[in-house]
Amino acid sequence: MKKLALGVVAALALAIPAQAQTKYPERPITMIVPFAAGGPTDIIARLVGENMSKTLGQQVVVENVAGAGGTTGITRALTSAPDGYTIAMGHLGTFSAAPATYPGLKYDPINGMQPIGLAGGTPILIVAKKDLAPKNLKEFVAFVKANPDKLNEAHAGVGSVSWTTCTLLKGQLGVPKLNSVAYRGTGPALNDLVSGQVDFMCDQIVSVSEQIKAGTIKAYAIASAERSPALPDIPTTKEAGLPEYQIEAWNGLTAPKGTPKEAIDKLVDALDKALKDETVKKRLLDLGAVIPSAEERTPAGFAALIKRDADKLAPVLAAATK
Ligand code: MLT
Repeated sequence: MKKLALGVVAALALAIPAQAQTKYPERPITMIVPFAAGGPTDIIARLVGENMSKTLGQQVVVENVAGAGGTTGITRALTSAPDGYTIAMGHLGTFSAAPATYPGLKYDPINGMQPIGLAGGTPILIVAKKDLAPKNLKEFVAFVKANPDKLNEAHAGVGSVSWTTCTLLKGQLGVPKLNSVAYRGTGPALNDLVSGQVDFMCDQIVSVSEQIKAGTIKAYAIASAERSPALPDIPTTKEAGLPEYQIEAWNGLTAPKGTPKEAIDKLVDALDKALKDETVKKRLLDLGAVIPSAEERTPAGFAALIKRDADKLAPVLAAATK
């Protein structure tokens, strides 16, 4: 009898960790967006986060922690307890460009975090205030080269996607020192572009497509191989006369290194379900996002993308910022 009781106790003890594991998540999950509200990262985070809440049975709460080109928020997320309750939506800038632009960066996107998956591809557009004189990309290029001191470029801080992609553009045009104005995200930068306070920027399609359609700003070109179905009238940089300027941006979810596999598996599944949801998909596609492939939605697929782009950007950014 005593033996039997001990056996039951031992069996229960073994069962406890398994039971505890299956409880995740027991409380709301914070999804840090490292830029101001209203920008592309925030838009994608809120869209997928809302749907992930349904799958996870707990609210995914978006918290905007802006600053230093997105590195402040990502640092906060990646130094949080690795328990599955703090995750972050970052992007090409925070994960693949920032390591090349911040020597003292306090996180390591390649070896020091746990990727969850890609949430959306976000083609880059060169956009300008609606009454900027140049009417097309060729005129814009000529104008920039002739008047490098007359234009203001808006971006979301060193290492952000807008900064990175316009840094590459300015490097290619031979005007690396053109005036620029830093914002806490391209959401607020876009407001100033619409009101004409700044002249142009390079931004991700999801935050600018509706303004382009409404005619409150204009787009010179999309820096992708193909036109976007969301903006079929906007030429590619190749069609518009600047074929060498091509870059693809993206946004994806990550967690601190050491987050339990069980939590990561549930987050991967919730992201996958969000991207299969017809309403989420339609909204992302309407805004111009590219829905990630099944492989890119996995931690390994996303990790490979981060590394590929970090390797690609490091020498280019070093040359462009010299
Ligand atoms: C944002 O959400 O504001 C952008 O992703 C900022 C950027 O990287 O350009």
